[in-house]
This record gives sequence, C-alpha cells and structure tokens, in this order.
Amino acid sequence: MIKLAPSILSADFSRLGEEVAGIAKAGADYVHIDVMDGHFVPNISFGACVMKSFEGRTALPFDVHLMIENPDRYISDFVTETTEYITVHQEACIHLNRTVNHIKSYGIKAGVAINPATPPFVLDCILADVDLILIMSVNPGFGGQEFIPSSIEKIRYINEIRTNAKLNFEIEVDGGIQKNHVEILKAVGVNIIVAGNSIFGDGKINTNVKAFLSK
Ligand code: DX5
Ligand code: ZN
Repeated sequence: MIKLAPSILSADFSRLGEEVAGIAKAGADYVHIDVMDGHFVPNISFGACVMKSFEGRTALPFDVHLMIENPDRYISDFVTETTEYITVHQEACIHLNRTVNHIKSYGIKAGVAINPATPPFVLDCILADVDLILIMSVNPGFGGQEFIPSSIEKIRYINEIRTNAKLNFEIEVDGGIQKNHVEILKAVGVNIIVAGNSIFGDGKINTNVKAFLSK
C-alpha cells in the first residue's frame, strides 16, 4: 500500500490546525513539513515552531523535509516525539554520512533528498545507511509546479539497487504529483507520495486524500 504525506506548504496557513486535522481524518499517513531557508531554495516557508504547534494535536507523524543550508545546525530543533523522518538534501551536505548519523543519533529515521538535476548515483555510498530516499520531481522551493518526468528513471535506478542489495529504506517522491501519477510511481517502487497542491488546492481535502489512497 502506498503511503501519502500531504505537504502543508499548500494548506491555508491561517487555518493550519484544521487543515492538518482534515488530512488526518481522511486517512493520510504523515504530515509533510517543508522547511525553506531562502538560501538553499529561493523561498522562505516556516520553521520548527510551526511544526511543534501540531504536537499532541495530531496522530500523524511528522515527515520533515529540510530545504536548508547547513542542516546540522537545525536538526535538533525538529526532534520531537512525533517526528518520524528528517530528510536533508545531498546537495546541502558536505559530510552527508555524518549528517545522516547525526539524525539517527536522536532515534529519528534519516532521509536524503536529491534535486531534479542531481544524478541518482551520488547516493550509492549512502543507501545502506538511510531510512528514506526522497527523489524531488520539481525544483524545490515552491508548491504547485509541474512534475518532471525524468524523475521516474531515477526512482527505477534507486529501486533496482534496493532490490539487488536487499536494503530496506523507503522511496519517497515529492513535487507536482497528481492522482494520475500514482500508478506509475507505485510500479517503479515508490512507497511514500508527497502531494501539496493536489490535496489542498481546491479545498476538497477529504476527497483528494481518499482518491490518492484508493489508487
Ligand atoms: C517543493 C516541496 C514540495 C511541494 C509539494 O519545494 O518540497 O513538498 O511543495 O507540493 P506540490 O505537490 O504542489 O508540488
Ligand atoms: Zn517537500
């Protein structure tokens, strides 16, 4: 079964608590927390204090996506009882192995993301150490962009190594995903889908979450 992590970046920020309650009620698996610093990506979103405001108010685990430079400096801020994954970008980490171990030292699952122009083989030497690989299917920074089709081949590459080496990490894909992408994403080995605009964009959260999960 594919899991769904709606991105609250596309939610109504003036009603964030209700929006998170809405995705939980509809059966989503995670809340995807998009953190942007205005340096690694050309946009600023929100930080740990916004995420922490949901603590104790939702049963959904946090799936944290750090689109920030120097993530090591901020990792501890995102460690909560409700945090399941913290994902950093390969492009933002000079000592990626150290950063992955830093995340895991808090008992949190560690993820590594790559941008659309980053080839998947840069991940070869970290695959055995991670809990999640996130393939970005848009250039990170904004919700509501168009899915980049070459992401599919990158997912296939990672999935093949996972199968051959009998590794256990999850494969997540993020950016521009619509309901009609679910079938192909499942077929190439994706376990977790992130969706923002296609969940929150038209205000029909319940219908949209259910439609994704029924695919
Ligand atoms: C992009 C973010 C994504 C994105 C998802 O920078 O990491 O999580 O906002 O939103 P959609 O599905 O609208 O592309
Ligand atoms: Zn994201």
